[in-house]
Amino acid sequence: MIYETIVTSVNANSKPHIAPFGIRERDGLVLIAPFRPSTSLDNLLQSRSAVINLTDDVRIFAGAFTGKRSWPLSRADKVNGYVLDAALAHRELELVEVRDDATRPELYFRVVHEVNHAPFRGFNRAQAAVVELAVLVSRLHMLPIEKIETELAYLTIAIEKTAGDREREAWGWLVEHIENYKAAMSGDNLA
Ligand SMILES: Cc1cc2nc3c(=O)[nH]c(=O)nc-3n(C[C@H](O)[C@H](O)[C@H](O)COP(=O)(O)O)c2cc1C
Repeated sequence: MIYETIVTSVNANSKPHIAPFGIRERDGLVLIAPFRPSTSLDNLLQSRSAVINLTDDVRIFAGAFTGKRSWPLSRADKVNGYVLDAALAHRELELVEVRDDATRPELYFRVVHEVNHAPFRGFNRAQAAVVELAVLVSRLHMLPIEKIETELAYLTIAIEKTAGDREREAWGWLVEHIENYKAAMSGDNLA
């Protein structure tokens, strides 16, 4: 099982970095597996700590790929790191094991602290749709544009039926990003 979360990490100067990651749980440890190259990977290896944020503000997922990575943060309680103010819950982690790999190293963490901030209010299809589109946007250069367009058309149904303001805003950023990418591609083709 993979849970889609926002991982906050810090560099050597304690500068925070925010990025979406699917995390797994294995034998009581949390597994984060970043593809190289990755700022998060560099930070996690250097600081040997991480914060996992569980949030229903999907703008933070969409923002990672559309130039909006500046979200309110507070200091973590037990590790060198930051917690998203928008987190419904967060977990603070310490790195215990690295299985190195040229493509996608596996980083295993121990949970040292866990806090619930606000209740989970239930599933929302528009939030799931934004997360799905964010995954597609993160792979834009690897996927045929027809696949993106087909998926986008389907996911739009959930947005139209179930979105609130935050979901609509996040969706708009991602759609605009795809439109800009398509325009750049057709520009390349003309050149
Ligand atoms: C829902 C979601 C899950 C993701 N999970 C992963 C993951 O497990 N590993 C990974 O390398 N990238 C994953 N990505 C893509 C990263 O968020 C993206 O590459 C990010 O910018 C990390 O690179 P950075 O550390 O340089 O910021 C995911 C993206 C989304 C939207």
